[in-house]
Amino acid sequence: MTAGPTREFFDPVRFLSNPSSGKMGYALAEEAFRRGAKVTLVSGPVSISSSVTPIIQVTSAEEMYETVLKEASKADLIVMTAAVSDYRPNRYSAHKLKKARRNLALILVPTRDILKELGRCKRPGQVLVGFAAETNHVIENALQKIEKKNLDVIIANRVGATGTGFESDHNQAIAIFADGKKIEFPRMPKKKLASKILTLVMPFLH
Ligand code: CTP
Repeated sequence: MTAGPTREFFDPVRFLSNPSSGKMGYALAEEAFRRGAKVTLVSGPVSISSSVTPIIQVTSAEEMYETVLKEASKADLIVMTAAVSDYRPNRYSAHKLKKARRNLALILVPTRDILKELGRCKRPGQVLVGFAAETNHVIENALQKIEKKNLDVIIANRVGATGTGFESDHNQAIAIFADGKKIEFPRMPKKKLASKILTLVMPFLH
């Protein structure tokens, strides 16, 4: 399981990130743990306390990539809830950049797609669940991600609206399966949604 945002630093005090709180990913890990699964949670920087163990803390997309790929071969089920940064600054300054009166341009380079790599080396029987954060064309984009990343299920949710998605305690989502089947979940607490998602993917595990 993965949760939270990643941070892409370009000097010791500044980074690019996103508003992910980690609540959805932690709720899923907690629920799987509560049901007796052996869970490893790889988490970006969040302020949530959890009884799940082990939790491996990472900061950047690159660190998350290395950690998840190392852990993945042992896992029967992988759920990538983390909001991994798609870009990182191409340079890191070991010293704090000083303010100047001119514009500061950052060059961003793509990070590695963890889920795509997991899909590429998925072993038989392994179940891969992704999340899709979308502001528009939710279903079309999610279907493309299933295909591109070789997923079994994708949980698509609309972000950018208030009261659901990033930072909220609630979420509204659609589960889409590789065969095109869809199950819609109305707005509900993330903890309840986590339980419903796990119940949904359990039958894939045998
Ligand atoms: N993901 C990943 N590695 C990345 C980016 C995303 O593993 N470098 C995973 C996320 O954890 C999520 C899924 O891919 O489970 C989809 O993430 P999303 O941000 O919705 O899509 P992207 O593939 O990044 O595409 P886009 O930003 O263009 O929508």
